Amino acid sequence: THFYENILLERHGRVGVITLNRPKALNALNFATMQDVVGAATQLDADPEIGAIVITGSERAFAAGADIKEMSTMSYMDMYLKDWFAGWDTLAAVRTPVIAAVSGHALGGGCELALICDFIIASDTATFGQPEIKLGVIPGMGGSQRLTRAVGKAKAMEMILTGRTIDAVEAERIGLVARIVPATDLLADALATAADIAAKSAPIAMLAKEVVNAAYESMLSGGIHLERRLFHSVFATDDQSEGMAAFIEKRPPVFTNR
Ligand code: CAA
Repeated sequence: THFYENILLERHGRVGVITLNRPKALNALNFATMQDVVGAATQLDADPEIGAIVITGSERAFAAGADIKEMSTMSYMDMYLKDWFAGWDTLAAVRTPVIAAVSGHALGGGCELALICDFIIASDTATFGQPEIKLGVIPGMGGSQRLTRAVGKAKAMEMILTGRTIDAVEAERIGLVARIVPATDLLADALATAADIAAKSAPIAMLAKEVVNAAYESMLSGGIHLERRLFHSVFATDDQSEGMAAFIEKRPPVFTNR
């Protein structure tokens, strides 16, 4: 397998774990780190042995943003021609469920990376913010869109216009994170949650992710229609027959991913 310079890639059973590993820069997401994360996630997504992915950072920082030092002298044309941040679309397109396990700073691009993941489990030390406005820029990795959909206009506007950082309790209250756990339990909890998902039928989990994302990304009527069609399609799978039969027979299901 490929060697990545800015991340660690591990497998725990059916769970792939991507750990951001640029401690000197508080895991700032430079171009090379984006390529590593996207490359590793793509590799895991293609692996039938993997049923869920966890993206995490250090205790001190999930990621303190895009790399300000790398971007500071870039021009409009540099940004445009390199289509800066476009690589993250590939992470958003991963079909395997992806959990962000966030401790410490999740700022700017770090908050946006967590929002690209399917849901966030936060340690009680996690802080979230979009401080771009303080640097004279705006969010560029999807934050204006995903944060607004996740927490609504009032909170997103306040966070993006002021750059105010919120703590884990506020993040949970406004629906930015799914759950808060003590910092010492964060990785174990995220791994257990990912293993729980990975124990389900992989194709059914992919369909579930696809249709929840339709609610997130499109309008209601189109999403309802897509849900019904995808629901119909699960009746073409062995795992639907097995899952429902196992319930009726009062035994655990044995999914075959078919
Ligand atoms: N880019 C590059 N380097 C960064 C960085 C970033 N986003 N965040 C932190 N670092 C570096 C610091 O420059 C410092 O490096 P040196 O030791 O070489 O000086 C090192 O990481 C440690 O950081 P601090 O000394 O600042 O640590 P601290 O504990 O005092 O402060 C912090 C932590 C509050 C997170 C502070 O580092 C900070 O404010 N960072 C920037 C946060 C930010 O503005 N993020 C948004 C970036 S723009 C963006 O993300 C655009 C987008 O939409 C994608």
